[in-house]
Amino acid sequence: MPKLQVSMEKEHLSDAACRHYTGTVYSDHATAELLEAVRELVNDDLPHYTRCLTQAVDNVQPVFMRKRYAEFFWHCSTTVRGYLENVIAASSTGEGEGALKLFDLWRSIDYNNDMADQVLRHAQDEARHARMFLRMANAMTPGCIAPAELAVRESTLPPLGVPELSSRASVPEHHLIDHLVQMNIGEIRTRLHMHLFAPIVFNLAPDSGRKLVRGTLEALADDELRHIGYTALLMEQWARDGDADLIAGLYSSRLATFNAITVDHTEGAIRAYGQGRFPDLLEM
Ligand SMILES: [Fe+2]
Ligand SMILES: [Fe+2]
Repeated sequence: MPKLQVSMEKEHLSDAACRHYTGTVYSDHATAELLEAVRELVNDDLPHYTRCLTQAVDNVQPVFMRKRYAEFFWHCSTTVRGYLENVIAASSTGEGEGALKLFDLWRSIDYNNDMADQVLRHAQDEARHARMFLRMANAMTPGCIAPAELAVRESTLPPLGVPELSSRASVPEHHLIDHLVQMNIGEIRTRLHMHLFAPIVFNLAPDSGRKLVRGTLEALADDELRHIGYTALLMEQWARDGDADLIAGLYSSRLATFNAITVDHTEGAIRAYGQGRFPDLLEM
């Protein structure tokens, strides 16, 4: 999945379009392709990170990396009114929550300025992404978020600038590693989700919204890959310095937790909209 897919050639509601879509957004080699893109971005072979992530994916087989998950997403997006708008709005909320967690983490890294700066930049990116998702929803379905509601939603999001550096207890390094393992896995899932909805959002957008939609999706995809990259490089450095086993264990356990949460979040939608066709997605 090296490049974000934002166009589909087929009529956008047909079975052929579904096959085309799942064929382009889903790959049996998704992890290997992601690793290749990350290695190229950070200019490091990342042998430890590669082993940790690959083993964890093999052990857990997360639902969000399965072809059936992509098929279910297609099914809901093309048959359930408002589904995609809700997914995009929820993404905005998720990005805002991610920004808050990262701002907290930034405040608690008081022993490595370079690392703290990277986490701060990440937090600011996520705060910006939260707003980009809201604007993308309106570009795809004009008026789906009324101006007054947009203003209220934006006012509840974390700030775009640098928040006040209030004092906070220093985070022990092994906790920091755990937080960033979770961030790294979260970014991988976010990137996969983006590949899932990019072609559909682009195709549903009217001509007037397509430029904004394309630009937003491509900017988001670049940022998310960068977030995966810097956290992967930190993992590699920690692993080289002696924490390889700790990190390998964290990847498997945290990926299993992410999978359970994803199944939990998806379960209601599968029962409500799946028409009995996707029972396998509820199996862990
Ligand atoms: Fe983001
Ligand atoms: Fe991100």
